[in-house]
Amino acid sequence: SRLLTRRFFCARRRNILEIFNTVKDMQDKANRLREQGKRIAFVPTMGYFHEGHLDLMREGRKRGDYLVISIFVNPTQFGPAEDLDKYPRDFERDRTLAEEVGVDAIFFPDNEGMYPPRYQTYVDVEGVTKNLCGAARQGHFRGVATVCTKLFNIVKPHVTVFGKKDFQQLVTIRTMIRDLNMDIDVIGMPTTREHDGLAMSSRNVYLSEEERESALSLSRSLFLAKKMFEAGETDAGKVLAEVTRYIESYPHTRIDYAKISCVDTIEEAQHVGVDTFIALAVKVGKTRLIDNHVFGEVLDIPYPEGR
Ligand code: PAF
Repeated sequence: SRLLTRRFFCARRRNILEIFNTVKDMQDKANRLREQGKRIAFVPTMGYFHEGHLDLMREGRKRGDYLVISIFVNPTQFGPAEDLDKYPRDFERDRTLAEEVGVDAIFFPDNEGMYPPRYQTYVDVEGVTKNLCGAARQGHFRGVATVCTKLFNIVKPHVTVFGKKDFQQLVTIRTMIRDLNMDIDVIGMPTTREHDGLAMSSRNVYLSEEERESALSLSRSLFLAKKMFEAGETDAGKVLAEVTRYIESYPHTRIDYAKISCVDTIEEAQHVGVDTFIALAVKVGKTRLIDNHVFGEVLDIPYPEGR
């Protein structure tokens, strides 16, 4: 009878997945839920789901009575030379996966709905977006902060879940929520990795077989940094020199940045400590990958081969 209950539960979940395409429909639903005293959990995404997205949704499922996800490839966070047009998309596959993890609703707007003609308002989080991806991708975090503000105003969540893989994004969202007095709890979830340690990313599909091997240089070099720190090394320069040497020993890699920074301010740190993290952005072939490790936290990857 347990199995039957589970089947019924799953079937019931499948039946009630709702899709909202307009801002008004989503807001009306959110208002009704709030009137009923329901706690809304929200996971914003750009779609093309991998296990990492699903882990965020599973966490969201636990945190709220009603779980909304959004799928929107947000044009304002892509630079003119970036991969907006070729960003992978597959709504039907995403819908099935969302249904399987028990999502209640997908907010799936179009560009016009989110940025209608005469749109002119943007959110700029200043300090924490200056370095790392903020320096490398001008305007990126302005686009992220803007779309997340809009999504929060539309979905009206009590709690939202973000991945730590985009660590600077998580810090930016936390800072914005604090500064703008948004009444939303933010949960940061550990990076979901492939069996060999590669951080899951929608962009991994661009990698050729050889590039896929070189992409392992990111997680493996984070592991080396972690080991150096655990052995007592606190000189950020020395850790970064070793990480750089390691990544460059792989073909097809070009380091965009490799930096150790403070977890709160994202300012460069000279000393490694538990209030710092190492962040990498590396071009592997044409694909730009990022990864990071907060010193003192778990980094669950297989022991890297010597190189
Ligand atoms: O992390 C992402 O997928 C995006 O930056 C987000 C948070 C959905 C905003 O577009």
